[in-house]
Amino acid sequence: MKNTTLRSLIAVSSLVPATTVAADTASVTQTSFGRLRDGREASLYSLVNANGMKADVTNYGAIIVRLFTPDRAGRMDDVVLGYNTLEEYVAATPYFGAIVGRYGNRIAKGKFTVDGQTYSLATNNDPGGLLCHLHGGRVGFDKVLWSAEPLLVDNTPGLKLRYSSKDGEEGYPGNLDITVHYWLGNDNAFKIEYLATTDKATPVNLTQHSYFNLKGEGRGDILGHVLTLKASRTTPVDAGLIPTGKFAPVAGTPFDFTTPHSIGERVNAKDDQMKFGGGYDHNWVLDNQTGQLALAASVFEPSSGRTMEVWTQEPGIQFYCGNFLDGSNVGKSGRPYHHRTGLCLETQHYPDSPNQPNFPSTVLRPGAKYQTSTIYKFSAK
Ligand code: GLA
Repeated sequence: MKNTTLRSLIAVSSLVPATTVAADTASVTQTSFGRLRDGREASLYSLVNANGMKADVTNYGAIIVRLFTPDRAGRMDDVVLGYNTLEEYVAATPYFGAIVGRYGNRIAKGKFTVDGQTYSLATNNDPGGLLCHLHGGRVGFDKVLWSAEPLLVDNTPGLKLRYSSKDGEEGYPGNLDITVHYWLGNDNAFKIEYLATTDKATPVNLTQHSYFNLKGEGRGDILGHVLTLKASRTTPVDAGLIPTGKFAPVAGTPFDFTTPHSIGERVNAKDDQMKFGGGYDHNWVLDNQTGQLALAASVFEPSSGRTMEVWTQEPGIQFYCGNFLDGSNVGKSGRPYHHRTGLCLETQHYPDSPNQPNFPSTVLRPGAKYQTSTIYKFSAK
């Protein structure tokens, strides 16, 4: 088993002048995460910041496997859902912790047209009995092995992940080169920087699909988590969870999180939108449409005191409260993940944008750069 700490690589890394490596604990450690059926080995990288906060990341699916954050007493718990082994991720996962793409979220009927040419994608999802393309298809970016390079820059541990998606892969046009940087800052912020380029026009919408439970994974439902969303509108959906193309104000509805509300307070409200999603599973239109990093969401968990802020450059956020979790996935601590035991805040462009002329475009063209970032920042009170 390989076990290399980045400290031993420091001398050869031009990114890491020796003077920036202080005597504190920030480090990156690499171990094996097992082998895929084709023999390729996946690694697990442990990023530890100067406060002892730890993120374990595998280059299979760019998955955040564990994320330990302090509660109000300084006690560390793992706040993301997931598995201990590669085999379990390969066997069955509802995208636990992964980067999803090439197009995160849904594309109606798996079809879209760019520059007069129509493309057909796998239809791997059928909410309400209506077929659509979800999260990149049968083998999306959550199910591929990324190349990875551990980093330690200004005493901040990080991981550079790269994947080259071939022209025609999962039906998408163009060779797409993707780089994702993860950074575990000493301000307890987990930062994700996305970069992609293409040689043919293609839709791109990357997101991070971690399921959070700020009590600690496996410790029950997330209904008591208190959520605030900096968003006064949603993109309402049909029974197939495809946007109708309209924008709906949240005021006076169970979707209004402009002031803090617990997730459980209105999740069972009699509302068509809520019925389609089986609870919250919708895209909110963020008030910040500048493309600059801004606070999008915050979640507070009263028993632990943990708070997570979500900052993003993206125009939307899918808030999904784990409605499809049904206890069939048994997590890291040996406990089944039941209904609504994790929540996702997936920063993104809006669902089905390739078929929605009213939505900001997701088409990336040759010569242009897809460049965006999102931060999940942790504290406790
Ligand atoms: C996303 C979708 C949900 C569901 C999950 C994965 O968040 O919006 O409808 O498909 O992924 O189970």
